[in-house]
Amino acid sequence: MRISPRIQFNENIILQCGDEAIETKAIDLSLQGIKIENALSESCKNKDQVKVSFEMNGQPVTLNGKLYRNEQKEMVIVFDESPEKIAETVGSFITKKIYESQTCPFCEYHIEKTDKYCPKCGMYLNFSTPNVIKVISDFKLGKIIEKLTQEEKESIVESTISSNMEMIGTNEKMKEVFHLIRKYAATDYPVLIVGETGTGKELTAKAIHQKSNRANKPFIVVNCASIPSELLEAELFGYEKGAFTGADRRKPGKIELANGGTLFLDEIGDMPYNLQAKLLRFLQEYTFERLGGTETLTANVRIIAATNVNLKKAIEEGKFREDLYYRLSVLTIELPPLRERGEDVVIMAKYFVDRYSKEIGKDIKGLTKDAIELIRTYSWPGNVRELINVIRKAVVLTDKEYIDAEDLDIKVDPSEVENISNVLDIRKHTERLEKKLLKEAFIRTRGNITKMAKLLGISRPKVYKLLEKHNIGEIHIK
Ligand SMILES: Nc1ncnc2c1ncn2[C@@H]1O[C@H](COP(=O)(O)OP(=O)(O)OP(=O)(O)O)[C@@H](O)[C@H]1O
Ligand SMILES: [Mg+2]
Repeated sequence: MRISPRIQFNENIILQCGDEAIETKAIDLSLQGIKIENALSESCKNKDQVKVSFEMNGQPVTLNGKLYRNEQKEMVIVFDESPEKIAETVGSFITKKIYESQTCPFCEYHIEKTDKYCPKCGMYLNFSTPNVIKVISDFKLGKIIEKLTQEEKESIVESTISSNMEMIGTNEKMKEVFHLIRKYAATDYPVLIVGETGTGKELTAKAIHQKSNRANKPFIVVNCASIPSELLEAELFGYEKGAFTGADRRKPGKIELANGGTLFLDEIGDMPYNLQAKLLRFLQEYTFERLGGTETLTANVRIIAATNVNLKKAIEEGKFREDLYYRLSVLTIELPPLRERGEDVVIMAKYFVDRYSKEIGKDIKGLTKDAIELIRTYSWPGNVRELINVIRKAVVLTDKEYIDAEDLDIKVDPSEVENISNVLDIRKHTERLEKKLLKEAFIRTRGNITKMAKLLGISRPKVYKLLEKHNIGEIHIK
């Protein structure tokens, strides 16, 4: 990931190490250093302090630096100068070249002299002030930094479901979810919420409850997957004294406790088959018996169920009762996975940065463009919960003003994951082949861009772009 510009710079330079002055040619120039042709010398050792002198706009410039030889035996001088000095010399020179060429050094898009940022990739293009150099070296960011726009803020407020519950969504699919929540809240029918893990099923159930006229009555959650199946019946329907070993007193079940309110049955697909009949009866008559009891009881409870498994498939496999499914699924809400919610992922990420940094009293201003791009492209298999965890961790750990891509602990790189469903993915294989060929060309030509371009049959800018994309040929400083 390139964060500062690098330009071609085929000028003669004088390299001074110790008493010796060697004349050689520069290859390219960046704010951090200058790459030069191999100037073999006994007196120049790796990590030596050196001085490099060259002409810039007809003016002689001398900069201090450290000498490194990278793995390709190229020589690189990494500047050891103040931001003021870099801005005044290399920074101003690179800025001038960028505007002269009218080409963005990061994405090669056409730029105008009046553009402060690249209109395409958003990179900041002026490197002639010490502040920018400082930002680049301190925080390793050169791209424009974003915060929530006013419009984004408004759309969040607009779609906030209730004052004490923050459910964010601006995407059409989420607007439909909000619409259904409001509609369903006005009734007492069961609701089935379907969605991948972490998509907000419980939050949705709570929102329905809070919008309904049961809001000031209990909202009780039972997770059918986390309670052993032999205990689930007692948990839901309660038991009488002596109903089973250890039942030394009567205990009301969750259905009784939820009287007047809402019972949220999470992971309903995991409910044992025999218990499903008892639940169905409750849904039809609102009557039940405690375990070991004979008395028929009633409770005024609204049932909301959720599942992340395909219940239709479970029916086919004989694991879920079809009649219960039809009873439960009259009113259904499908929560889209985060990756299908467009810009909502970015809006939410920014919102969580704000929220969690306030929570722990940190003054984090937002996310960098790179971080946003990573958030946008990652597939978020754990959906909103995963997003929250990643942002929370970054907020706690970072000491930067803006959270950068490297602060986001995204473990699975979706392009690296090998699974049955993507072994034939053409894009992935093409990328891999591209990297392989590029590496090979890099080794054969010892990183000579012109030769690489010829060998690979592509343009020089394309070679630069691919090297950057695949992280090949970066300066390795040990
Ligand atoms: N649209 C949203 N806006 C803000 N926060 C959300 C949103 N959706 C989910 N969350 C938050 O994400 C986390 C996961 O949500 P929730 O527990 O409701 O998901 P779930 O679908 O029940 O997950 P699981 O299947 O793992 O039980 C919670 O902290 C919740 O507050
Ligand atoms: Mg849940």
